[in-house]
Amino acid sequence: MRSLLEIKEVSKSFKKDKRKVKVLNDVSFSVKKREFLSIVGPSGCGKSTLLSLIAGFDEYDEGNIYFKGEKIIAPSPERVMVFQDFNQLFPWKTVLQNVLFPLTVNKKEMNINKRKDLARKYLKMVKLEGYEDYYPHEISGGMKQRTAIARALIMKPEILLMDEPFGSLDAQTRMQLQSTLIELLEEIETTIVFVTHDIEEAVVLSDRIIALSNSSNSIKDVIDNNLDRPRDRLSNRFIEKVKEVYDKVKE
Ligand SMILES: Nc1ncnc2c1ncn2[C@@H]1O[C@H](COP(=O)(O)OP(=O)(O)OP(=O)(O)O)[C@@H](O)[C@H]1O
Ligand SMILES: [Mg+2]
Repeated sequence: MRSLLEIKEVSKSFKKDKRKVKVLNDVSFSVKKREFLSIVGPSGCGKSTLLSLIAGFDEYDEGNIYFKGEKIIAPSPERVMVFQDFNQLFPWKTVLQNVLFPLTVNKKEMNINKRKDLARKYLKMVKLEGYEDYYPHEISGGMKQRTAIARALIMKPEILLMDEPFGSLDAQTRMQLQSTLIELLEEIETTIVFVTHDIEEAVVLSDRIIALSNSSNSIKDVIDNNLDRPRDRLSNRFIEKVKEVYDKVKE
């Protein structure tokens, strides 16, 4: 089967003080439909840059990125991003209005009551029932991230791009959100490219892990992760996998 997403020999530089600084160099990989792929690597190695190229927010200098066989040239509701920042929600809209927003823009033909039912369904999926009328400043960081995930999923994106979505949460809330995401994956048929600093998080969630390197600005290693699900963080196999990824990521 053809891959959903194909990244072929992609390079990207930014201009800094009239100098070109390469942040991605000859990066190639592909992502299959329904795969959960994590990207790990040290700060500054180009993880967010890579995601924004896939989202279509920015242009690459060399190579090609194909989504369903077509070159990515712009953002699309088929490729939706969730960020780390708690401020990604509209502060003047309630939780329900935030989740409704993509439908208001992209699905004008849908009846408003249908749109609201759908938004409530997604809020239930991320365990935010009862918080529909709260404003972002009235809910916790974890709840804001749950809202952002519901808002991303309501468009039924083919691919969900997540840039350290749990990076600002405390350890316990982070684990709860990871569990919710794992549960969601049983209900929704989406492909995920997930950026994280946290190797344990990558091992708990993903089918495959790509390690990016700061020194080469390219892929250092690709690690398959076929541990049985649900994954037990305390099992020897899990701990061994975490160690394997640590060893391969080390610079
Ligand atoms: N718009 C931009 N203009 C100039 N340089 C940029 C821009 N965006 C990113 N960079 C540079 O590209 C490099 C990679 O940045 P990027 O944000 O992709 O790293 P990252 O791996 O996501 O890091 P972190 O883990 O800290 O989020 C950095 O050196 C950064 O300064
Ligand atoms: Mg980043």
